[in-house]
Amino acid sequence: MSVAINDLIMNALPLPVLTIGPEHGIIHANTAAEAFFEVSLRMMQRQRLTDLLPFGSPVLALVEDVRQRGASVSEHRIDVGSPRLGSERIVDVFATPLGDDSDNVVVMLQERTIADKMNRQLTHRGAARSITALGALLAHEIKNPLSGIRGAAQLLEQSADENDRLLTRLICDETDRIVKLVERMELFGEERPVERGPVNIHNVLDHVKRLAQSGFARHIRFVENYDPSLPPVLGNRDQLIQVILNLVKNAAEAVGIDATDGEITLSTAFRTGVRLQVPGSQERVSLPIELSVSDNGPGIPPELMSDLFDPFVTTKVQGSGLGLALVAKIVGDHGGIIECDPAPRRTTFRILLPMHRTVSGSDADM
Ligand SMILES: Nc1ncnc2c1ncn2[C@@H]1O[C@H](COP(=O)(O)OP(=O)(O)OP(=O)(O)O)[C@@H](O)[C@H]1O
Ligand SMILES: [Mg+2]
Repeated sequence: MSVAINDLIMNALPLPVLTIGPEHGIIHANTAAEAFFEVSLRMMQRQRLTDLLPFGSPVLALVEDVRQRGASVSEHRIDVGSPRLGSERIVDVFATPLGDDSDNVVVMLQERTIADKMNRQLTHRGAARSITALGALLAHEIKNPLSGIRGAAQLLEQSADENDRLLTRLICDETDRIVKLVERMELFGEERPVERGPVNIHNVLDHVKRLAQSGFARHIRFVENYDPSLPPVLGNRDQLIQVILNLVKNAAEAVGIDATDGEITLSTAFRTGVRLQVPGSQERVSLPIELSVSDNGPGIPPELMSDLFDPFVTTKVQGSGLGLALVAKIVGDHGGIIECDPAPRRTTFRILLPMHRTVSGSDADM
């Protein structure tokens, strides 16, 4: 009886789940797995995982790894595309020991569509790069004449009457706004390698919290949900401050200036077994440090989600839409990933970063 219920549960799951036995033999697969691989359960039970996946697929090594370690491992962004399944089938894989005395391993796949956030990271890295050149050009070509215009307006202001002074003020304020925009774009032009070292992420979060509470987020309650044993991140402190600041600023702006119950939650956690395949190579990096910023604002409009991390995407009157683009660039430069869960009342931006290792191992320069 309970077997039947277990089957029903498995088949109700929208994600493909496979149970893998010795020598990669397939013991069980749910309906979603049948649909994903386009092979019936009966057929699959006569096959091996090696028949379903491309030759040398990292999923096979992952299953072996789980079997040997007896612990769960997840790995992001593996391409299981094949001539049969079609190219570019990008999945996240979660594998775990079955939990009985056997060596069986349960594998769950979660497909990521092209427009999905992980891939976005790659796309918007490209986008960030293309505005890098633009930023440098703007900075060079626009800042000087602007300061000329501003200087001239200030001179005029001295001899202007009350009405004209309103206009000269306007010129100054607007040129200041352009200079600020250009300066933010210049940040993208930073191509020199930044210095990285051990960074205490709680220290970064505290710093940003203090900045926020003494300014734009004075009216918001902060909740801290920290894992006290978190090891240091391998990163650049100033850049990580910038990342968290941009996220907290967005969170505060989402909550709104009039909110009385505004709440921003800062969390950290240590996650073993989260690994990321470096695109274009067999190399895998582990990203065990998770930090997230959530708010209880209205959430992100669904139509924004696919371009969220692109530059100049904004819904704010005074927004430049560079905040998240810069966040994505910095996180990408750190070898990390960022994801967004856009739900109303608990919008969450989650960042995974590599850990700093004391002994100089191969991970240290990632
Ligand atoms: N926590 C959030 N809740 C709801 N919407 C958000 C949140 N974070 C970002 N957004 C949406 O994403 C858009 C882009 O954010 P981004 O930080 O890149 O630019 P911006 O905040 O509009 O401008 P800037 O950061 O340059 O001042 C925002 O305009 C907003 O619509
Ligand atoms: Mg912003």
